[in-house]
Amino acid sequence: MIPIVYLNGAFLPLTEAKISVLDRGFLLADGVYEVIPAYGKHFFRLRAHLDRLEYSLQGIHLENPMSLNQWQSILQQLLLQNEGLDQAVYLQITRGVAPRDHAFPKGIQPTVFAMSNPIKPVPEYWLQRGISTITLEDIRWQWCHIKSIALLANVLLRQEAVATGMQEAILLKDDQVTEGAASNVFIVTGDQLRTPPVSSELLSGITRDLVLELAREANISCKETKISTHDLYHADEIWLTSSTREILPVTTLNGALVGTGKPGAKWQQLNHYYQAYKEKIRLGMYQN
Ligand code: PDD
Repeated sequence: MIPIVYLNGAFLPLTEAKISVLDRGFLLADGVYEVIPAYGKHFFRLRAHLDRLEYSLQGIHLENPMSLNQWQSILQQLLLQNEGLDQAVYLQITRGVAPRDHAFPKGIQPTVFAMSNPIKPVPEYWLQRGISTITLEDIRWQWCHIKSIALLANVLLRQEAVATGMQEAILLKDDQVTEGAASNVFIVTGDQLRTPPVSSELLSGITRDLVLELAREANISCKETKISTHDLYHADEIWLTSSTREILPVTTLNGALVGTGKPGAKWQQLNHYYQAYKEKIRLGMYQN
């Protein structure tokens, strides 16, 4: 079955969705995006994702082309029109189509695109054995709080990890951890869970927020605080979080074992709560 996508007011088969080569997303990466998971056709923290979308749009001085209700209706229709109980909706807004010029053009309509794909389950052996990571210098721009479609640096960093047989790159700036190429970073040191505080150096992950919430509910001590390279190397556990990969235990860093070299006890505990939360979404027990 050909997936149904949304493009500028219409639902149509993916193969018929076309945009101009003058689109500023294509020529200048002038746009923002979101990735929103849904379980059992129920969205995971939709409101939080749409709030972050609004924040990203404000960051690039682009007016939100839709109200909250309009977004909810479009995205819900997309879920229903596509196969799979568990899906990840991708949505993107660019400044629109205009002759190429860096400055904003006047009087054009933004391009609004959304598609939905079945969520690829995280490989079981990643959860059993944990994943491998490398540290790389964070070469990205200074506004990483905006979920910009300009992902070339993230692409190169992830690729460098993958090319060396790793699953993710953990990024370092001035001897501090920022985030992963497409994920947020947590460490466990002793009894304490830590993640870098929200700033313009990283994306405020929706999964990150939920992990903090679940940890606080479970009375796990957690702190949003800077993580130095030294802290990272000496952590008992390292986790990576994102909408599509959930919470992943990291068991090697630059070829050395993290902690015992097995997914840690705190990860087991938090992942259990996370999976339980997801199950409640799947059963429609949370409205968001
Ligand atoms: N990316 N940091 C970066 C740079 C990311 O690209 C992502 C997710 C995250 C985690 O955010 P969240 O928990 O809201 O998914 C952090 C998505 C999944 C992507 O680009 O496909």
